Amino acid sequence: MRAGRIDDEETRSQVLRLLRESSHPFLSGQELSRQLGISRAAIWKQIEQLRNLGYDIVAIPARGYHLQAGPERLTPAELRQGLQTALVGRDIHCFSSIPSTNSHACQLAEGGATEGTVVVADAQSAGKGRLGRSWASPPGVNLYLSLILRPPVPPREAPLMTFLSSLAVARTIEDVTGLVPTVKWPNDVLLNGRKVAGLLNEMSAESERIHYVVLGIGLNINMRADEFPADLRYPATSLLLATGSLQSRLALCRRLFAELDELYRDYLANGHEGIMNGWLRYFDLLNVMVEVFDGHGSQRGRVSGVADDGALLLLGDDGAIRRILAGDVRPVPAVDPT
Ligand code: BTN
Repeated sequence: MRAGRIDDEETRSQVLRLLRESSHPFLSGQELSRQLGISRAAIWKQIEQLRNLGYDIVAIPARGYHLQAGPERLTPAELRQGLQTALVGRDIHCFSSIPSTNSHACQLAEGGATEGTVVVADAQSAGKGRLGRSWASPPGVNLYLSLILRPPVPPREAPLMTFLSSLAVARTIEDVTGLVPTVKWPNDVLLNGRKVAGLLNEMSAESERIHYVVLGIGLNINMRADEFPADLRYPATSLLLATGSLQSRLALCRRLFAELDELYRDYLANGHEGIMNGWLRYFDLLNVMVEVFDGHGSQRGRVSGVADDGALLLLGDDGAIRRILAGDVRPVPAVDPT
């Protein structure tokens, strides 16, 4: 055995290096112990610590250890691997921690950052949610990103950007996990009725021209149940909780860039139809009786569609169609006739 005490962190990274570099799928505790000159019990301790840090290490008796997946590092170089977007991700800014990717993206946009610039963070210390709420943003588990766009359209078309980002998130989830999410009007993406992603768009504009829109996306990926804030106002989930397995943040982020890129370019070339039709495929409240709460009161009606400008169309008992511009929509529970 090697004399002297090796610092825990150094040992951990040595164990990790050997697992990564091993030419065999499994590396035995005995071999690790031999190469590092420490006991098998010490190796086991390091494996447990790596697992606590989010590394997925399989241990099989008589075979040894196999590293399935590690908490990936979100870096510009990693995110660019295999990325074939024309616009999204032209410029990528990554941070291990930042107050809010949206706030940073707004600053970059004010300074003239090019369209397609993205800001990605491993953690946010002051992640912003809608209606002045905060967005739980622990490190190593989720995706927090903001995309700068400069659509050459008047500000009245800006709501469409919310549909664009929720559609991109829904498609990404379906592509990567095979699960089919639903979208909530006007934003949010849900899995089994629980919120898995939140969207926050910020805009700078004058009367007929948008200077920039920042699309902020928070996607819960590998968050465990005990990592959600206790005081959440809505039921939430993560891809880990919904699928039962850890997901690659890098793969999801690259896929999301590709979906955002495709949808935005289609919008610039052909208008809003592609986005709205795609979004309606994930919308499960069409023709459903709902109640809309807008902070002052509520109104009921049957959802008859979504207008081109993003307004929810509600058919009332009087046969009139009302346009809803904002509010929280909930299905009205069916009354049991018995
Ligand atoms: C919501 O309340 O549903 C919206 C949440 C939006 C969170 C994302 S995380 C990345 C981006 N940066 C922020 O500060 N907020 C958005």
